[in-house]
Amino acid sequence: MNRIFSGVQPTGNLHLGNYLGAVRNWVRLQDDYECVFCIVDMHAITLWQEPAALKAHTREVAAAMLAAGVDAKTHILFNQSQNPDHAQLAWIFNCVARIGWLNRMTQFKDKAGKNRENASVGLYAYPNLMSADILAYKATHVPVGEDQKQHLELARDTAQKFNSDYGVEVFPLPEPLILGSATRVMSLRDGTKKMSKSDDSDYSRLNMTDDADTIHLKLRKAKTDPLPLPDSAEGLSGRPEAANLLDIWAALSDGTRETAIARFAGRQFSDFKKELTELAVAVLGPINSEMKRYLAEPAEIDAVLKSGAERARVLSAPVLAEVEDIVGFLRA
Ligand code: TYM
Repeated sequence: MNRIFSGVQPTGNLHLGNYLGAVRNWVRLQDDYECVFCIVDMHAITLWQEPAALKAHTREVAAAMLAAGVDAKTHILFNQSQNPDHAQLAWIFNCVARIGWLNRMTQFKDKAGKNRENASVGLYAYPNLMSADILAYKATHVPVGEDQKQHLELARDTAQKFNSDYGVEVFPLPEPLILGSATRVMSLRDGTKKMSKSDDSDYSRLNMTDDADTIHLKLRKAKTDPLPLPDSAEGLSGRPEAANLLDIWAALSDGTRETAIARFAGRQFSDFKKELTELAVAVLGPINSEMKRYLAEPAEIDAVLKSGAERARVLSAPVLAEVEDIVGFLRA
C-alpha cells in the first residue's frame, strides 16, 4: 500500500489555510493510504518559540487534527521530536543535498527576511529535515498546500541523489498531492498575501479555534472591492480578495471556483459574505467544539502522541538501519 507522510508546524493555531490546504485532505486520504501525520516541533524551533507556548500549541494542533477526523488508531499521529530517527536521517541528508539547492528555497528567503546573517542554521537546513521526515518512512505521497511544492521537489532531488551516489534504489521519489480548490488560501486583509500563522493581524485568518461570533466578525471585516461579484473567471482578474473569498466558499462547499462564480454572479459582497459566514460556521463549528473536548483532556492527547511516536519508530528504524549500512556506518 502507498504510504502518506505529512506534517504541520505547532507555531500557533491551525488556520483555514492549514485545514483546506492540508488537514481536510489528510482525513479524506485515510481510506486509501497508510498515513503518518506529524506535528513538526523540530521545524518550529527554527524560529524562536516560547517553550511553554510550543508545548501548548503542540497539544492544540493535535486536538485540531483529531477533531477534524484524523484517525490516530488506524494511522499514526505524533510529534516529531519523539522520534529521533528524523534528526539522524536529516544529518545524512545535510551531507547529500547541495548548498546551491538550499540557496534557491524561497521560504528561507521569506522567513529570514533582510537579516539573513542572523537567521538560525536550522532555518537554512529546514528542507533537509523535511526530506528526512518523508523519507524515513519511504513515503510515496505527501499531501500539502501549494507553498510546500518547492520543498517537495528538493526531497525528490535528495532521494534521487542518495540513490544514485550509493548506487541503490532505497528511496521512492515522493509525489506531492495538492488537492482541492483552496491550495493557497490568502489573507482576509490582503488577497495577495498567503494566510499564515505568523501574520501579526488575527483578522487576516480564520483559526480553527474561532467561535461563530469571531468567524462572523472576521468575515464581515474581510477586505473586498466595490464591484459586485463577476459572472466569469476572467472577471476576477485584478480582484484578489474576491477570488480568495470565492475559492474559500468553493472549498468549504466542496465545489469549484466555477460553481462559486455561477452561484454568486452579480451579487453584492454583503450578501455573499452572509452565506460564506453560515457555511464557515457550519463546517468549522463542529470541529471547534470537538477540539475543546480533546483539549480538556491533555493527558489523553499526550498518550495519543506517545503511542504514535512508538509506532512511527517501528516504521522508521529499519529504514535508518538500512541507510546507515549503505552509508558505511559501522554497527557492531
Ligand atoms: P505549515 O505548518 O506551514 O503548514 C501545514 C500545511 O498547511 C498548508 N498551508 C496552506 N495551504 C493552503 N493555504 C494556505 N494559506 C496555507 N498555509 C499553510 C501547508 O502547505 C502545509 O501542507 N514545512 C511544512 C511542514 C512539514 C512537512 C514535512 C509537510 C515539515 N515536514 C513533511 C509535509 C511533509 C510547513 O511548514 O507547513
